[in-house]
Amino acid sequence: ATPAEEKDLVIIGGGVAGYVAAIKAGQEGLKVACIEKRGSLGGTCLNVGCIPSKSLLNNSHLYHQILHDTKNRGIEVGDVKLNLEQMMKAKETSVNGLTKGIEFLFKKNNVEYIKGTGAFADEHTVKVNLVDGGETSVRGKNIFIATGSESTPFPGLTIDEKKVITSTGAIALKQVPKKMVVIGGGIIGLEMGSVWSRLGAEVTVVEFLGQIGGPGMDAEISKNIQKTLAKQGMKFMLNTKVTQGDDSGEIVKLDVEAAKGGKAQTLEADVVLVAIGRRPYTSGLGLETIGLETDNKGRLVIDSEYRTKIPHIRVIGDCTFGPMLAHKAEEEGVAAVEFLTKSYGHVNYGAIPSVMYTHPEVAWVGQNEAELKEAGVKYKVGTFPFSANSRAKTNLDTDGMVKFLADAETDRILGVHIVGPNAGEMIAEGTLALEYGASTEDVGRTSHAHPTLAEAFKEAAMATYSKAIHY
Ligand code: FAD
Ligand code: NAI
Repeated sequence: ATPAEEKDLVIIGGGVAGYVAAIKAGQEGLKVACIEKRGSLGGTCLNVGCIPSKSLLNNSHLYHQILHDTKNRGIEVGDVKLNLEQMMKAKETSVNGLTKGIEFLFKKNNVEYIKGTGAFADEHTVKVNLVDGGETSVRGKNIFIATGSESTPFPGLTIDEKKVITSTGAIALKQVPKKMVVIGGGIIGLEMGSVWSRLGAEVTVVEFLGQIGGPGMDAEISKNIQKTLAKQGMKFMLNTKVTQGDDSGEIVKLDVEAAKGGKAQTLEADVVLVAIGRRPYTSGLGLETIGLETDNKGRLVIDSEYRTKIPHIRVIGDCTFGPMLAHKAEEEGVAAVEFLTKSYGHVNYGAIPSVMYTHPEVAWVGQNEAELKEAGVKYKVGTFPFSANSRAKTNLDTDGMVKFLADAETDRILGVHIVGPNAGEMIAEGTLALEYGASTEDVGRTSHAHPTLAEAFKEAAMATYSKAIHY
C-alpha cells in the first residue's frame, strides 16, 4: 500500500459546510482535501435541497400566476399547459451549473476533490472508498466532519420516493399527484406542498402542533401565511397526529386523530410527503473507531471553536448544533478554518435569518414574541401591512406585513418578522440591523427608496418607536 499523503486539512463531506471550508482553507494557503460520496459537490442544498426546490417554487409560482392572476392585469393568455418534464429540466440545469461551479472553485483554490465515502481509520487518517472503485486513504493534521443531515423517517411508512416521499422525491415527481398528504407543516412541507398545490394537486398538510411553519416562526405571522396558503387551495389539519400508515396498496392510507386524543379518521393519498424534520447524518463514518459520540439527537458534540474532544477534529454544518440552514453551515465553514489559521472565528447565532420561499415569502431573524415572553423581556411591537405599501399595491401583491419587536426601554431591535412579497431579500436589512445592534429609530430614520417594498420595512420600524405615516 502507498503511504497516506498528509494534508493540513481533510474535510469529510462536500456540502455547503464542507465545500465552503475547503475553498476558504485553499485561500488561506492550507493543503486541503475534500471527500464527497455523492459524485457531485454542494451537498443536500445544491443537489436535492435549497436550489432544486427554489427552481420549482419559482416556476410553479409563475405557472400558477399565469393561470390565475393575469386577466385583472390586462394580460390575456391562451392555452396554458404544464410541461413537467421541462420544468424538471430547468431545475436540473440550475443544479448542474452550480455544482460544476464548485468544482471549478476547488481547482481555482487548489482543493483536492476526492470522490468517495470517507471513514476514520484512526484519529488522523481517513480511509476512502472511491466512487469509481478502489480505495485510498488520506491523512490530515486537522479533520473537519461536515456530513450533513438526512430526513427523519416516519415509523411504519417505507420511503420509496414515489408514493411515500421525502423532499428528495418531492423535487422529482414524474406526474402531478391527484391527492397529496404532507406529514409535518414545517418549511419543507409548506414549500413542497406549495409547489404541488400550484401544479394542481389537492394538498392536505397534517401538523402535530397548533401552528404551521416549524420552529421559530412567530405565531401571528404563522396565522397570516396559513390564511394566504389556504386561499391558494392548501388544506390544513392542525393539532393532528398521524397514528399509523398503510402503504401496501396503490393508495396510501393514514390514520389521523386530534393530538390530544379524539375521533380518528383515515386520509387517503396517492403521494404522502414525510416532512417531520431532519436529523444529523454520521453513519458509516467510523466514529466508534476514534471514540467520538453523538448526543441524543444524533449531533456530534463540539465546543465553541467547533472542536470535538479530539481537538484536531472539528464539526460544522447540519451534523452538529444549531439551525439546519445552508447559510449557517457556510458561516461555520469559514469560521472553523479561521480558528485553524488565525485562532479566532465569528458566527453570531443570534442573527441567522430564516426564509420560507412560499408565496408570499416568510422571513425572520432574532426572537419571536413567544420567545421574548418566555425570557421575560419587556418589548414593544410595530407592524406595517403591505396593503398600505405603494409598490405592493402597484404589483397587486399586498398580502402580508412587516413586524418589529424591540426592547421596550432601549428600542434595540430584538426580532424582525416578515410575511410578504420579497420577504426573503428584505430580511437581509433586518439581519444587518440586528447584527449592528440598531434601534427601530435607526431604521425609521434611514431613507428608503420610493416606491419599494422596503418602505414597508421602514414604516414598520417607525410604527415601533413612533407612528407610521401611511397607515
Ligand atoms: P449537506 O449539505 O447535507 O452535505 C453533507 C455532504 O456530506 C453530503 O453531500 C453527503 O453526501 C456527504 N457525506 C456524508 N457522509 C459522507 C462520508 N462518510 N464520506 C463522504 N461524504 C459524505 N437551507 C437554506 O438555508 N435555505 C433553503 O432554501 C433550504 N432549502 C432546503 C430544501 C430542502 C428540500 C432541504 C432538504 C434542505 C434545505 N435547506 C435549506 C437546508 C440545507 O440544505 C442544509 O442546511 C445544508 O445543506 C447543510 O449543509 P451541510 O454541508 O452541513 O450538509
Ligand atoms: P421542520 O422542523 O421545519 O418542521 C417539521 C414539522 O413537522 C414541525 O412543524 C413539527 O411540529 C411537525 N411534526 C413533527 N412530527 C410530526 C408528526 N408525527 N405528525 C405531524 N407533524 C409532525 O422540518 P422540515 O420541514 O422537515 O425541514 C427540515 C429542515 O430543513 C428545516 O428545519 C430547515 O432547517 C431545513 N429547510 C430549510 C428550508 C429553508 O430555509 N427555506 C427549506 C427546507 C428545509
